[in-house]
Amino acid sequence: MKLNRIVLLSAMLVTALANTTFAQSLRSAYDGAFLIGTALSTNQILEKDPVQAALVAKEFNALTAENDMKSSLLHPEEDVYKWEIADALYALAEKTNSKVHGHTLIWHSQLSRFFREKKTKEDMIAAMTKHINAVAGRYAGRTFSWDVVNEAVEGDGSLRKSVFLEVLGEDYLALAFKLAAAADPKAELYYNDYSMTGVEKREGVIRMVKKIQESGAKIDGIGMQGHWGLESPTLEEIETSILAYAALGVKVSITELDIDVLPNPRNVSGADISQSAQNTAALNPYVNGLPDEIKAAQAKRYKDIFALFLKHKSIISRVTVWGVNDGNSWKNNFPARGRTNYPLLFDRENKPKEAYYSILELRKK
Ligand code: XIL
Repeated sequence: MKLNRIVLLSAMLVTALANTTFAQSLRSAYDGAFLIGTALSTNQILEKDPVQAALVAKEFNALTAENDMKSSLLHPEEDVYKWEIADALYALAEKTNSKVHGHTLIWHSQLSRFFREKKTKEDMIAAMTKHINAVAGRYAGRTFSWDVVNEAVEGDGSLRKSVFLEVLGEDYLALAFKLAAAADPKAELYYNDYSMTGVEKREGVIRMVKKIQESGAKIDGIGMQGHWGLESPTLEEIETSILAYAALGVKVSITELDIDVLPNPRNVSGADISQSAQNTAALNPYVNGLPDEIKAAQAKRYKDIFALFLKHKSIISRVTVWGVNDGNSWKNNFPARGRTNYPLLFDRENKPKEAYYSILELRKK
């Protein structure tokens, strides 16, 4: 009898402890608000580091491949597909009860070479059809959402002169959405871009999305990448943009959030991966660690923007940070290579940062 009670009490204690630990994760804290995602490198998808693998499973419930599902990696040649890493991403998501966000079907960067060789409408349509059918079709029913088109609009609101625009004109946009909907009718379909708080860009994106909608194509959401700084864009700019996009009748996601704490090189704005700058000491001030006041400023910034996201949680479906820990962030190499940046929620030792606790705090009952 006594022994039974001890067993029962210890079982209750273990469950209580497990629940406390569980409550200490972002994915559980934000349950009921929006998905909390991250982007995974190849090694992270393959769970090479068990500490990071455990952290990803515990904290995040939406996974994006940081690179492995871009066309040049997944479909490098007309008849060559490299499914291994993407397959592993879907398996990992299913194992950890997470969603997969597919990134990305049609993008001018990290683009397979064969697309650039298509000079006629017929050939380009055939190439897009083959690519989207193969990729979205392979994972149909298992993909929560797709970035169907990435970065098609310039800062001034005009359409980017990509190979797709050059050959097909703006019809390529609706075509991409129609092909994606046919290949995977259940997935949510997104348009995704950076600098989405800029006024001219926002107006251009809204014009473009309206045309896609008028064509009869299905578009479910707009992704604001969210490669942001400590002060820019302002909360007002972010909020105005979220509301302006939502007014199109679509959902909004924050798809690639990171908060850069380093000085911005003057010649670079936004997240155009073809841009670069020289790494200088002035541009790389925190090689030996981040000063406390910057840690606090970053924590406040994360808290403020997450409070804003929570205010609009009925519109926002997912917030994804672009990487697991500061050490693996692309921001260490963009726009200048080899800097020491601190843009994410976990430090180089995979320990939660002040920024992490600041957003967890917002969901404490
Ligand atoms: C970046 C990756 O993080 C880097 O590893 C890669 O070298 C370049 O691309 N916008 C996007 C992402 O949509 O795919 C980009 O990811 C960052 C900007």
